Amino acid sequence: MTADRAESTQTGNTRTGDTRIIWLSDLHFEEYGTVLGHDPRARLDVTISFINKNYGAADLCLISGDMVETATPANYRALATELDRLAIPWWPMTGNHDDRAMVPEHLGLPDGAMPGFAQYAIELPQARVLCLDSLNPGVASGLLCAERLDWLERALLANPDKATLVFLHHPPMALDLPMLDPDRLENGAALLDLLARFPAVRQLCFGHVHRPVSGHIGRIAFSSLRSALYQAPPPVPTWNWESFTPAAEAPDLGIITLHDDQTNIAFLPFCAVSLGVNGVPH
Ligand SMILES: [Fe+2]
Repeated sequence: MTADRAESTQTGNTRTGDTRIIWLSDLHFEEYGTVLGHDPRARLDVTISFINKNYGAADLCLISGDMVETATPANYRALATELDRLAIPWWPMTGNHDDRAMVPEHLGLPDGAMPGFAQYAIELPQARVLCLDSLNPGVASGLLCAERLDWLERALLANPDKATLVFLHHPPMALDLPMLDPDRLENGAALLDLLARFPAVRQLCFGHVHRPVSGHIGRIAFSSLRSALYQAPPPVPTWNWESFTPAAEAPDLGIITLHDDQTNIAFLPFCAVSLGVNGVPH
């Protein structure tokens, strides 16, 4: 992490009056090999090229977890080298494939991040972004312990009237995705109860399900995002983990534009579904 990266994230690019966040999720990066037949280096390379070509003036890039497929220092170091090619500041979150100590060590976190966890706040002109660490080591589902929930409550109380977006890896509610819902945030109700106390919380953004779902819970809008690498099958036809085959759907990135009192999230497929997939010409 460089001083420039931290400074530009804190300041925001206000030349246009709006703030633009590029949202990625579930990179499942590996230095070598493939993941479920998908080449994570080829996919990340085209992701970075697309962002630099089309959104090089965006304010920052947020990546909602599963940074790597296998949490090793070598994979994180290789990933950091790739992500540093982005023309804009980028910040990671933890997913169930990640390691809590390796993420800050190799990928860096903004100044002021919560000690011991990959959890932090970013102040932008139109809104505050709170990125949470929902990793529960050793299992696919997520958890926010009392310490992390307390950090979140104190962050919200510090500026209760500022519009707020909350990012985390695990969805805190079921999404009518029968095979994926059991691995959501285990104590999602505790998170949602806390957020419901703060009317300035506008939006939840999460990954993990490798599928696009949007809606609202109470008065809080939410959205998931496709993986940058491979997609989970849709709920029908029904499937199980033995029959799991990635869906033939192109990856998306999210373009979040913060206007005064309005947030747009556009979903952009940035490459062909075949790019980086074994046995299929690119
Ligand atoms: Fe994932």
